[in-house]
Amino acid sequence: MSVEIIPAIIAKNFKELKEKIEIVEQYVRWVQLDIMDGNFVPNFTWNKPAELKYYDPGVFLEAHLMISEPEKYVGDWIDAGVKRIIFHIEATSDPHAIIQICRNKKIDVGVAINPETDIEQIGAIDELVDMILILGVTPGFGGQKFKSSIVSKIKALRKRNPHLTIGVDGGMNPKTAKQAIEAGANVIVAGSYIFESEDVEKAVDKIKTYANSQ
Ligand code: DX5
Repeated sequence: MSVEIIPAIIAKNFKELKEKIEIVEQYVRWVQLDIMDGNFVPNFTWNKPAELKYYDPGVFLEAHLMISEPEKYVGDWIDAGVKRIIFHIEATSDPHAIIQICRNKKIDVGVAINPETDIEQIGAIDELVDMILILGVTPGFGGQKFKSSIVSKIKALRKRNPHLTIGVDGGMNPKTAKQAIEAGANVIVAGSYIFESEDVEKAVDKIKTYANSQ
């Protein structure tokens, strides 16, 4: 499977979001919007899908909803034009309803799981979604250290589902991305490594080439 690099953006407001998208959009196909409600995670980010309505970036946008009761808000993000919804299995009592909403609107859907959530807790959800996003950090902030304890979870999920898109998000740099890819991940979500780099193009390429090197 080829490896996709998706830059993750934590933005305080729409202006910052657009600035960060413009920094990376020529080097990638997808950008992840980190959406935090200060409730599911102890941080609060830009959170106004209606502001996306008349904005047409040169990349596909996915919304990583680190919010409680995502079922209440998924429709707003889809109507705003995001092409993939990623919600946390820990944040909802009705994951199937969210998956159905996305399927009805022909939008990709992924489920994110926190470091302490075992893959047994997602049941057969991996059979119903387009992606499982495994968090390598406790969600809420960028720049945290990768928890290598999740490598075994990546391996177990890949063994169980050879064709699933498995993303890893949190603490990703060339070295940790290599561990994630060797364990079976094929999507790497990186925030600080890309946005704190001198050269964004080099940073994206470095993750890709280093990760694929033997
Ligand atoms: C959860 C967020 C962050 C972000 C990536 O806190 O989802 O993981 O996307 O941040 P870095 O790449 O800086 O760990």
